Amino acid sequence: MTIDATARAHPNMALVKYWGKRDEQIMLPSTGSLSMTLDEFPTTTTVQLREDHGPDVLELNGAVAQGEPLRRVTRFLDLVRERAGSEARAVVRSRNEVPTGAGLASSASGFAALATAASAVYELPQDTRSLSRLARRGSGSACRSIIDRMAVWHAGEDDATSFAEQIEAPELAMVVVVVDAGGKKVSSREAMRLTAATSPFAAAWRASTARTLEEMLAACREGDVERIGELAETNALRMHAVIQSTVPSVRYLRGASVGVFDAIEQLRADGLQAWGTADAGPNVVAITRPADAAAVADALAGHGEVRVVRPGPGARLVDERVAPV
Ligand code: ADP
Ligand code: DP6
Ligand code: CO
Repeated sequence: MTIDATARAHPNMALVKYWGKRDEQIMLPSTGSLSMTLDEFPTTTTVQLREDHGPDVLELNGAVAQGEPLRRVTRFLDLVRERAGSEARAVVRSRNEVPTGAGLASSASGFAALATAASAVYELPQDTRSLSRLARRGSGSACRSIIDRMAVWHAGEDDATSFAEQIEAPELAMVVVVVDAGGKKVSSREAMRLTAATSPFAAAWRASTARTLEEMLAACREGDVERIGELAETNALRMHAVIQSTVPSVRYLRGASVGVFDAIEQLRADGLQAWGTADAGPNVVAITRPADAAAVADALAGHGEVRVVRPGPGARLVDERVAPV
């Protein structure tokens, strides 16, 4: 019997964003999405079965978590236990190298690592598709962090058909510009609900994203970096437009974030190819070619802490301890 298992997963940055759910119960997205798994900022998570009958415990970044973060992990483990036919509770210890809740996809690396470690400990299927489907239930974007390098998340029709898988794409690099590592006030989940409930543009966002995903898949197949960058920047700005059209308005981009988008536009005017994107937070990511990444990082260094990232590995089990027989 496995006593504990440790998994590592990296955040992913979407080039076509997931923003909206068709079914929140089983976490089906309104549209498909596409992303690059990063090679930096891993989350490392250990799941250890409890010998006693105590509750699930989450230790996140060295502190015992309560409230919503603990509830999310407990709900996720309840699903795992139901599938495994187990009643055993667990101690989960997790550490994010990426800032938590700051729009740099900690929920993606976090639930991809948790799904991978929990599947080992509770003896659930560990093939890539099963892990992607399971990670999706913790955080939608986590289904893509199971996958190596570049991933498309098929929206799907039901639980079985909504998962991510690897796609071929040209070599890309990204420059992460951390303008503020502090946590967001409104979680991605809450802001998505608010968008569906209050934005008059929600339907237009869904329709445009579905079209953009088809165009992005074609650009990836053709190896057209310029097209990938243009589509990604437009899609990200459309997402922020629909987010700030909610009531009350949620604005994740700050003045400093807009300054990075302006600087990226100026780089293009100066002949360097880079395009901007941002998730649900103030931090901005420049998409570029590997050969241009150092120059783009130098040019953006005045706007925040910069880090060059490349396509990275999907979630992996890194350690497993089995009880002696
Ligand atoms: P982000 O932009 O970082 O993905 P979200 O609003 O999507 O922000 O999600 C943040 C939430 O994800 C945290 O409040 C916590 O509930 C959960 N989370 C983040 N990291 C982990 C982790 N390593 N293990 C479990 N849950 C995590
Ligand atoms: C802006 O996956 O964090 O990063 O499914 O409710 O956990 P939940 O939300 P989450 O949303 C990600 C939103 C995004 C875009 C993306 O990663 O595609
Ligand atoms: Co998230």
